[in-house]
Amino acid sequence: MTVRALASVNLAAVERNCARLAGELHGGAELCVVVKAFGYGHGDVPVARAALAGGARRLAVATAQEAAALRDAGLDAPVLIMGALSADELPLALDTGADLAVWREDFVDALARAAERPVGVHVKLDTGMGRLGTRDRAEATRVVNAVAAAARLQLAGVWTHFATADELGDSFFAEQLDRFRGWAGEVRAAHPEVVVHAANSAATLRDPVSHFDMVRCGIAVYGMDPFLADPDARDLEPALELRSYVAEVKPAAPGESVGYGRSWVADRPTNVAVLPIGYADGVRRGLANRADVLIGGRRYPLTGTISMDNLTVDVGPDAIVTSGQPATLIGRDGDHRILAEEVAGHLATINYEVTCGISQRVPRTYHRDGVPADG
Ligand SMILES: Cc1ncc(COP(=O)(O)O)c(C=O)c1O
Repeated sequence: MTVRALASVNLAAVERNCARLAGELHGGAELCVVVKAFGYGHGDVPVARAALAGGARRLAVATAQEAAALRDAGLDAPVLIMGALSADELPLALDTGADLAVWREDFVDALARAAERPVGVHVKLDTGMGRLGTRDRAEATRVVNAVAAAARLQLAGVWTHFATADELGDSFFAEQLDRFRGWAGEVRAAHPEVVVHAANSAATLRDPVSHFDMVRCGIAVYGMDPFLADPDARDLEPALELRSYVAEVKPAAPGESVGYGRSWVADRPTNVAVLPIGYADGVRRGLANRADVLIGGRRYPLTGTISMDNLTVDVGPDAIVTSGQPATLIGRDGDHRILAEEVAGHLATINYEVTCGISQRVPRTYHRDGVPADG
């Protein structure tokens, strides 16, 4: 399909990534798939369905709105809202029937007053991430006790989040794991049914000891590598491809420039292909004169400043590239492949930001190994 900009997502790859992760979990731990931020840009609902088909048992999101979107689509799997909830957001969160994150006693009180039916609650210990959760183990235990004592609250889980799981060899990961294991063990002794969870994708792939009862995987489910290496090495299949097409090819003589600020000037006779995709679609301006684009199974450099709706590619003097050809910004074309990890490398960022940054203006289509699928 030739359209201005298109992200196509292989749901069979999502399913296989989940099966691969779920198959290696230690001691029967469950796979919870993180579909926040519109499924890391892939589409939350289609990914959630594929993940559940691939062996995930639960879903996690950051916000009440994200949980509501899953429910509106008819998904009735257990959902955990991992983020903070304001008093204004609480009614919607409760309405979704999702489990909620807590770490303060006053929030437990507010929740107990607001809940009209049983709500699952996961108490968060901050073992070193320094974001949500209490750093105070005694306070965490008081919150556990308050939840257990509240009529309509059910102590569903205890959890933490790692700051450095993706930094192989870093000892802070082991410190956090240790801090959490001690506290979670105490809670479990008093509440044997509680679901203990800590691991993101990196921790899941790195250390089975971190699996506990459940892992919360995002990036690996989408076939991206949490360590920013080639996903192939860990048997993960990138699910998303981002394409545009060649809308125009024009010759550029030496001295002629393309784009704002004339950041690229031809130093030889060549041709420039114009792709009608730009930073408003999520192709970041920082990629100018750094990244490559695949056209007709070859790599070409993205030259000139990226505009809001267009970018330009030096396709060489041989006039091989013609108008109408598909152009791949992330994905495979012939023997070549551009990974989100490669794009992230050009931007000194992480693969997460690359796919999350694909804007809502870009339509998503879904397939299963090339066969069109419902989104
Ligand atoms: C609390 C929490 N758990 C799990 C995840 C999933 O992490 P990853 O995508 O690295 O697997 C995230 C994502 O940022 C998160 O914030």
